[in-house]
Amino acid sequence: MIELSNVSKYFGSAKAVDGVSFSVNEGENLVLLGTSGCGKTTTLKMINRLINPDNGAISIKGKDIQQENPETLRRSIGYVMQNIGLFPHYTIYENIATVPKLLKWDTNKTRPRVMELMKKLHLPEELLDRFPAELSGGQMQRVGLARALVADPPLLLMDEPFGALDNVTRSSIQAEFKQLDELLRKTIIMVTHDVQEAFELADRICLMDKGKIMQIGTPSALLHQPANDFSRKFLDGQRLALEFRVSTLKDIWPYMRAKQTGIQRDQPDAPEEELHRTLGLPGNTSVWTALELAKANAQTNKVSFTALMDGFTQYQKAVRHE
Ligand SMILES: Nc1ncnc2c1ncn2[C@@H]1O[C@H](COP(=O)(O)OP(=O)(O)OP(=O)(O)O)[C@@H](O)[C@H]1O
Ligand SMILES: [Mg+2]
Repeated sequence: MIELSNVSKYFGSAKAVDGVSFSVNEGENLVLLGTSGCGKTTTLKMINRLINPDNGAISIKGKDIQQENPETLRRSIGYVMQNIGLFPHYTIYENIATVPKLLKWDTNKTRPRVMELMKKLHLPEELLDRFPAELSGGQMQRVGLARALVADPPLLLMDEPFGALDNVTRSSIQAEFKQLDELLRKTIIMVTHDVQEAFELADRICLMDKGKIMQIGTPSALLHQPANDFSRKFLDGQRLALEFRVSTLKDIWPYMRAKQTGIQRDQPDAPEEELHRTLGLPGNTSVWTALELAKANAQTNKVSFTALMDGFTQYQKAVRHE
C-alpha cells in the first residue's frame, strides 16, 4: 500500500531523516517509535507532502506521490497532528467538517456523518458549537481523530494521537481506539515515543534513531530478536512489562503442564489473552477460566500465581533458546 525507498530529508546540514525504506501493507498498523528528534514527524509529513523529501521515492498504491497534486493527496489521507492542531477559531463542528467542506459535500451528507462520529467517539452533542479552547485535552484528541476520519480515508497518519493525555485517559482511549470499527479496515502509520503504547497498538514497529531505522518488525521480534544494541537497550528498562504484553496464557500453558500443576497433555488450552491483562486485573475472568479449567481437569490441583510465573519463566527460556 505505502512504500518508502531510501527517503532522506535535510534541514541545512542536519539529516532529519536519513535513507529510510519501509513498506506498509493494506490494513496494517505500523508504529514509528523513537526518542525525541529522531525524525518521526518528518517521516510522517513526507507521506502527505507537508514536507518534500530531498532524496528517495514514496508511493501509495503503486503511484509516486510526487506526481500527485498535494491538496488532492492530503484530502485522501487522514492526518492527526502532533499537539492535536485544531483550528482555534472554528467550532468543533467546523473543525470536524473541514475536509467535507473542501470536498464540497452537501450539508445533508456532512451533518449526519459528523453526528455519527461524535457518537462513536463518545463526544456529547453539545460540544459541537463550542471552540477547541472550551474542551478538555481528551475531548480535543477525540475531535482530532473525528476530523481525520470524517471522509473515511483508507490511509491514516497519526502523530502522537494520545500524547497529551494522562495515563488513565490514555489507556482507555487506546482500548477504544483498538476496537473502533472505523479503524479496522484502515492502513495506519502512527507515531509515538511511548514503548508501551507502541506494543499495545502496533502490528509492526519501526524503531528509529537519528533519522535512521534501527529495526522494523513485530513487537515480539523486537523483544526477542533485537537487531542491535540500540534495539536491545531501548526496550531494556521495560522488558518485563513488555514480555507480559506479548506473552499469552496460551503461550505459557504448555510450560505449566510440565510443572507442579498436574495439567495433562490432552487438556483444553488456555485463552489467548496477554498476561498483562490476566495479571493486571484481580478476579479477571480469563484467569478464572484458566484456574477453573485446571481445577476441573486436574481435579486436586489448582494453578497458583507461582505456577503461572514458573510457566512464564520456562516459556521465556524456550523463546530465548536458553
Ligand atoms: N522545519 C525544520 N527546520 C529545521 N530543523 C527541523 C525542522 N523540523 C524538524 N527539524 C529537526 O529535524 C529533526 C527531526 O525532527 P522531527 O520533528 O521529525 O522529530 P520527532 O522524532 O518527531 O521528535 P518528537 O518526538 O520530539 O516529536 C530534529 O532534530 C528537528 O530539530
Ligand atoms: Mg514529532
